[in-house]
Amino acid sequence: MRLLQVSDLDLYHGDAQALAGVGLHIDAGEIVAIVGANGAGKSSLIRAIHGIHRPARGHIVLDGEDITGWPSHRVCEAGIGHVAEGRQVFPNLTVLENLEMGATPKHARAHEKKSLEHVYGLFPRLAERRSQAAGTLSGGEQQMLAIGRCLMGVPRLVMFDEPSLGLAPAIVQEMFRIVRRLNEEGLTILLVEQNVTASLKIAHRAYVLENGRIELEGSGAGLLSNDRVRQAYLGL
Ligand SMILES: Nc1ncnc2c1ncn2[C@@H]1O[C@H](COP(=O)(O)OP(=O)(O)O)[C@@H](O)[C@H]1O
Ligand SMILES: [Mg+2]
Repeated sequence: MRLLQVSDLDLYHGDAQALAGVGLHIDAGEIVAIVGANGAGKSSLIRAIHGIHRPARGHIVLDGEDITGWPSHRVCEAGIGHVAEGRQVFPNLTVLENLEMGATPKHARAHEKKSLEHVYGLFPRLAERRSQAAGTLSGGEQQMLAIGRCLMGVPRLVMFDEPSLGLAPAIVQEMFRIVRRLNEEGLTILLVEQNVTASLKIAHRAYVLENGRIELEGSGAGLLSNDRVRQAYLGL
């Protein structure tokens, strides 16, 4: 089933074009990776899908419904979750309060207790620290909290924007394990990661974004052995 279809997307920041004719799709149950250099437009694409940026042209269709131009809160209500770059947690709120804030979509409120158990099961550290201010957590724990808060919204599709950025190698491994586990539990995932090898290894399919355009697409394994990808992104 086609969960998300993006077609002919153009996006500008002021006069500067960030996306040009971007088309991609994500089927239910897939992990789809977007690979590209700094400034290629990966975050712009995720933010356009989330309704933070409004595209100048093109369409974003979720499960057959055209959501182009919808405000962010409606996009969340429709089941798209976004774990933004840079672990955006509320430092003065407790872990539990941060998680509760994620359960704002209507469909999520009824599931709040079950979602909390699920999140604490995925991240036992968050359960141990539930009464602690989020600002006192380590970087890795804050990233877990950001993921947990997104899951509290009971999304169907989660978009991860560089979840392992700036984290210690052991935590990076943990992050990829979590992404894979969530996918095995049935969640559909769009993954942007500067760790290209690891993201192509877990992705069913991937797209290469260069200067706001999709230049290549293929299976994760296929792109991992593609000469152009190996030279440009893996330094091989
Ligand atoms: N809010 C913004 N205002 C102006 N320019 C932006 C904004 N966000 C991103 N850009 C520019 O758009 C281009 C794509 O950025 P971005 O989507 O953040 O790329 P990536 O996530 O792949 O590093 C870059 O040239 C960047 O400087
Ligand atoms: Mg980015």
